[in-house]
Amino acid sequence: MSENFDFDVLVIGSGAAGLVLALDLPTHLRVGVLTKSAIEESNTYYAQGGIAAVLDDTDTFDAHVADTLVAGAGLCDEDAVRFIVEHGRIAIERLIEFGVGFSQEKTPDGGQAPHLTREGGHSHRRIVHAADATGRAVEQTLVERVKEHSNIVILEHHNAVDLIRDTLPSGRRGRCVGAYALDTKIGEVLAYGAKATVLASGGASKVYLYTSNPDGATGDGMSMAWRAGCRVANMEFTQFHPTCLYHPEAKSFLITEAVRGEGGKLLLPDGARFMDKFHKMAELAPRDVVARAIDHEMKRLGVDCLYLDISHKPKAFILEHFPTVYAQCFEFGIDMTKDPLPIVPAAHYTCGGVMTDLKGRTDVDGLYATGEVAFTGLHGANRMASNSLLECLVLSAAAAKDIIATLDGVPPLPTLRLWDASLVREADEEIVISHNWEELRRFMWDYVGIVRTTKRLERAKHRIDLLLSEITDYYGNFTVTSDMLELRNLAVVADLIIRSAMMRSESRGLHYTLDFPELDNSRPPQVTILSPSMR
Ligand code: FAD
Ligand code: SIN
Repeated sequence: MSENFDFDVLVIGSGAAGLVLALDLPTHLRVGVLTKSAIEESNTYYAQGGIAAVLDDTDTFDAHVADTLVAGAGLCDEDAVRFIVEHGRIAIERLIEFGVGFSQEKTPDGGQAPHLTREGGHSHRRIVHAADATGRAVEQTLVERVKEHSNIVILEHHNAVDLIRDTLPSGRRGRCVGAYALDTKIGEVLAYGAKATVLASGGASKVYLYTSNPDGATGDGMSMAWRAGCRVANMEFTQFHPTCLYHPEAKSFLITEAVRGEGGKLLLPDGARFMDKFHKMAELAPRDVVARAIDHEMKRLGVDCLYLDISHKPKAFILEHFPTVYAQCFEFGIDMTKDPLPIVPAAHYTCGGVMTDLKGRTDVDGLYATGEVAFTGLHGANRMASNSLLECLVLSAAAAKDIIATLDGVPPLPTLRLWDASLVREADEEIVISHNWEELRRFMWDYVGIVRTTKRLERAKHRIDLLLSEITDYYGNFTVTSDMLELRNLAVVADLIIRSAMMRSESRGLHYTLDFPELDNSRPPQVTILSPSMR
């Protein structure tokens, strides 16, 4: 057992959402940033395409809002969309102030301005980017800035286990007062107190066997918030990115949508184009349409992958716009300046999450959520490309503002109960973890993937119920490890996804089921909300 560590603000996660929030807090506040591996490791780091914002004189807020609403298939919250879109320019200017070097182009008057690229669903060029490694430029810059702040304490290799809620005199649960976290270097769980706690822990795409996400995207924040009493919404909408590299040695390598934005064509194995049969915007149709079309053609032809070809563009153009993709593919023996790239869809983004308002506030006092972990209403049934980093930046700034405005009124922290490990023992069989991890991700891919049916969802529900009881039993008896914590969180998230999918008797956006292949137009579009009190 060890001492407690108290902060004014505890941020769980060190991607764009967590670091922007930490940097927006005044330096007199003591801020702790818990992150489960090295500080840079996050979805943010791997973002390629860029960040959407209205920066060009020929573009308008209305056009960005309208494109987002179309992609969201009737389920976006228009107020949230407008709020986020209208704060886009300020958010990008803030990143430039921090020192992020976006790709530039010459303006007609001989000056320079950020180069804007295009991605699916966008009617204008509005994506600022740092070549094809935007996330790396953003994350590295934010990390540099955070390290300059002595009020921000970075706790790497700290895996948050659960949120801590105060106990009221009535015995009911009160506000959130921090979190327990496993220090994976010493194998001990410690209590971190805070007047405000912020979940910035990213998404849950690791719940699927094939994903563009790094290993840490296990939905920990969604699962912790659910256990702490928060509602979650729209969990059935996992976005599958149409183009991940298909290669036996490539794990989770994305081919940015900007390749299609700059003229890349999707091809069948015989070299024929096919996207114009599925949507008038062809390769630049919204992602759900493109991913489903690829899945359909792969199943129809019984092939393992399709192809993405930009080799008709000059080599210098490809090297200038896509240096990272080019270098990575070249390492795998594929020269994209000459040959088409083999691609498959993979789970990419969790559109649903912990319900928040536009200040990042959740259902639990003292607990905020921002970034991919949160559900603000921006994405609806399908996120438009490059809107997610935008959401991280805008909502983190808004949440920081609210924390600053309210922190003085927060009661003093109670003494936190230390983590009690006296009743558990070392695990006797690690195979339980690795087996269940594999099984869960496989049945989620097979039964709750790009194309669903009621029967498949029922099969998945049956399996997740069994896994949940096995994992809960295991968690109660053995010393916690990172693998065990992640599996427990994945199981909770898988259950939330399956339950949400079962509640939607229609096909909308990313949720497509053969049993209800059309939109349900008999009533207004419904957000799927799950509440812990429904359990
Ligand atoms: P993340 O950046 O994922 O950060 C989450 C943090 O939480 C990490 O530091 C993680 O270690 C930490 N964490 C998680 N669980 C715990 C725990 N239990 N305890 C402690 N710490 C924890 N979006 C765009 O807008 N434009 C793009 O071009 C783009 N390209 C993408 C390319 C790829 C390959 C991927 C995977 C995603 C892309 N996205 C893109 C999506 C976007 O990157 C993410 O939605 C966004 O970065 C999420 O930021 P975040 O700060 O919310 O979460
Ligand atoms: C990409 O570069 O294709 C990813 C963009 C995104 O996910 O927003």
